[in-house]
Amino acid sequence: SESQLSADAVELGQYRHYMQKEIFEQPAALSNTLEMLGTTHSVQPGLFGASAEPVLRAARQVLILACGTSYHAGLTARYWLEAIAGLPCSVEVASEYRYRDSVADPATLVVTLSQSGETADTLAALQHAKLLGMRHTLCICNVPESSLVRENALRFITRAGPEIGVASTKAFTTQLAALYLLTLTLAKLRGRLTPANEGKGLSALRHLPVAVGKVLELEPHIRVWAERFAMKQNALFLGRGRHYPIAMEGALKLKEITYIHAEAYPAGELKHGPLALVDQDMPVIAVAPNDALLEKLKSNLQEVRARGGELFVFADADSEMSASDGLHILRLPEHYGQLSALLHTIPLQLLAYHVALVRGTDVDKPRNLAKSVTVE
Ligand code: G6P
Repeated sequence: SESQLSADAVELGQYRHYMQKEIFEQPAALSNTLEMLGTTHSVQPGLFGASAEPVLRAARQVLILACGTSYHAGLTARYWLEAIAGLPCSVEVASEYRYRDSVADPATLVVTLSQSGETADTLAALQHAKLLGMRHTLCICNVPESSLVRENALRFITRAGPEIGVASTKAFTTQLAALYLLTLTLAKLRGRLTPANEGKGLSALRHLPVAVGKVLELEPHIRVWAERFAMKQNALFLGRGRHYPIAMEGALKLKEITYIHAEAYPAGELKHGPLALVDQDMPVIAVAPNDALLEKLKSNLQEVRARGGELFVFADADSEMSASDGLHILRLPEHYGQLSALLHTIPLQLLAYHVALVRGTDVDKPRNLAKSVTVE
């Protein structure tokens, strides 16, 4: 209706699409989500619920259950939970987990992740975990009055605000912030966090809105890259370590809204198959922050160049890498340690968005997809 249209127009403000608006709202979404941290230098288990402390302290492993983009947040968090909190972690697609005869350990903390809190498979996977005897459950969810929140005594509500674009953006980055906070909390309860690292971890979280704001300034460069992509049929995304799930999320964004077939691979697997697909028609996007795996990733990228594949690399300010024919580099302004995974998500969201604009697809309502999948 006309009034509906004008209401939407007001809400969109200066933006053309909800997805664009939601990408640019990420600094605000993150600062709202992290507001309850205040200025404290110590993590507070109570942020996950009044009864959280003994439950978190008793956890011997973590099982994360989710779908879609939320699943990618879980995959990223696994690297943090293992490296920082020293907890074994498995991450499962909810629709698979709910029907598998898996082996349950009652000392598991079951973490469900969902923007909507209404995804049928995620709700069913949680019930399945409970039936298997796992009683300690926590959810990270963006909708406080949702079914998922009602099912969990422990919860962390991300405050991304309503997300309308079908392709999830700000819900994902706020989930990551919440998962990082959960990691720090578990690490502390397990005696694995020095006061210095606790303070550093919390200030890194508090600095995120500013850091994300700076990454958003790359948009004009990404718009130029998008032109080169728009005519392609396929794209390959590469990452290593905690940036591999970010590559997966980048590929999902591109698939969802541009209908370009995109796949993500851990870069080390390139030679076990996907390298056969690489030629001048296959753009390869690499998430390449300056971490311990950069040298390895660089040699993977050489393999792509040698086969004529055009490379688009998201690097860090201080990465030793230089552009050349067929090798394009965009540098993120800050090197950001463990949280670099969150920052590297932003340019991939923008890339998908701008490719969709060039291709003229329906950004906010891609064909065949729904925002919330409440039936199986
Ligand atoms: C749908 C949406 C995705 C979302 C997924 C999980 O597929 O299109 O954007 O990531 O559901 O949704 P949830 O609300 O559980 O995070």
